[in-house]
Amino acid sequence: VKTAGLRVIVTGGGSGIGLAIARRLAQANTVAIVGRDPVKLREAQRQDPALRAQVLDVSNEASASAGVTSVGAELGGIDMLVNAAGMVVGFDPVGPNSAALAERDMQVNFLGSLRMVRLCLPYLQESTQGAVVLISSAMAIAPAPGFAVYSASKAAVHSLARSLRRELRSLKVYEVQPTWVDTGPTRDMNISKLDARVVAEKLIVGLAADRDEIGVGQTGAVRFASRLSNRLAEALVARATRG
Ligand SMILES: NC(=O)c1ccc[n+]([C@@H]2O[C@H](COP(=O)([O-])OP(=O)(O)OC[C@H]3O[C@@H](n4cnc5c(N)ncnc54)[C@H](OP(=O)(O)O)[C@@H]3O)[C@@H](O)[C@H]2O)c1
Repeated sequence: VKTAGLRVIVTGGGSGIGLAIARRLAQANTVAIVGRDPVKLREAQRQDPALRAQVLDVSNEASASAGVTSVGAELGGIDMLVNAAGMVVGFDPVGPNSAALAERDMQVNFLGSLRMVRLCLPYLQESTQGAVVLISSAMAIAPAPGFAVYSASKAAVHSLARSLRRELRSLKVYEVQPTWVDTGPTRDMNISKLDARVVAEKLIVGLAADRDEIGVGQTGAVRFASRLSNRLAEALVARATRG
């Protein structure tokens, strides 16, 4: 797929991986970042004035619909959706309050991704370059200890990417699967982490090579291990998560 001259919307573009991708893509494309917090969006724009910004909550139909319409009008169309909005939170899946936490995280990570694809679809289908990028994780392949719901939400995103690739044949569907990345939610995890800019660079390389699944970090090893044994893949992810 082309990686220049596109009109791109990046969810979760106010921080972390989404912001790194937005900045990288903005070198050769028109990019709008969207998220809930206007302060974060303004700060990102201050640092990179080429970025457009729009407040949008992917877990709320009315907000997401209005936000997509507004971005579509401002950019004069949308060629690429990058779904980086996500909640990276570990909690006991059967502990107190787990029902509410699980619902919140699935709303953003899975249903939010699906909602954004649906709302952007009319624009993407108008484009000759229509493409969707979903950010899942190595934990889509093997779950991380302490992150049961997060891992399940990413496995759901992985499955969704595969289905969309088959069912929306007019669109390109890419999935980025990083191992742990150094961003706000992982700040206190004393483990080896990727730089978010590495994820952005790998995405550009993967798009140019038209690679459906773009692994970053040790994801290739996790994928290979999972073909031999689930337990081996889980052990690799556990080691990466516990340090
Ligand atoms: N960090 C890692 O180790 C890692 C590894 C693999 C994959 N990932 C994935 O990468 C993506 C980005 O994560 P990150 O590590 O960069 O964390 P982050 O800095 O916290 O980024 C997440 C972004 O999502 C936005 N967001 C959250 N809920 C939202 C909602 N309801 N509507 C719109 N935007 C929302 C947040 O902005 P607002 O709060 O302003 O809405 C924030 O900018 C996630 O999908 C995550 O699962 C992360």
